[in-house]
Amino acid sequence: AAPTDYEAEDALVSQGVVESNHAGFSGRGFVNYTNVSGSFVEWTVNAAQAGTYALTLRYANGTGVNRPVDIRVNGAISASAVAFPGTGAWTNWQTKSVTATLTAGLNKIRATATTAEGGPNADKLTVDAADAEKPTAP
Ligand code: GCU
Repeated sequence: AAPTDYEAEDALVSQGVVESNHAGFSGRGFVNYTNVSGSFVEWTVNAAQAGTYALTLRYANGTGVNRPVDIRVNGAISASAVAFPGTGAWTNWQTKSVTATLTAGLNKIRATATTAEGGPNADKLTVDAADAEKPTAP
C-alpha cells in the first residue's frame, strides 16, 4: 500500500494549537505545541495488517535547541526522546522517521514533548506500510 499522510491539524491535540503562520506546511496548517513537557499530538492511523511500519513526522524547529518527543503506540513507549533538532527557521520543514510495530486496524500514535520547550511544530505524520507487506513465518 502507498504511504498514508495524517495531518497534525486533524489529530487529537493536548496543549497545543493549530496555526498556519509559517509557510510550507501541508494541509490547512500545523500544530504548535505549547512550550511545556507533556504536550502531545495523537494520530489515529489505520494499519491494514500487523507489522513494522515507518512513521515519518514532518516538522519545523526554528530554534537551535532540540525538541525531543516520546512516541507511544497504543499507550506503550515505542521510541523515547526522538530528537527533533533545529531546522534553521520555522518555515524550513524537515522529516524524522522511526519504525514502530502496529496492530491490524486502528492504532493511536502519540508524540509527547519531553522538555519544557514542548515539541517542534508538527505538520503531518506519514505511515508507510511497505514493511508490513511481508508475511511472518507460520
Ligand atoms: C514561535 C513560533 C511558533 C513556535 C514557537 C515555539 O512563537 O512562531 O510557531 O511554535 O515559537 O517556540 O514553540
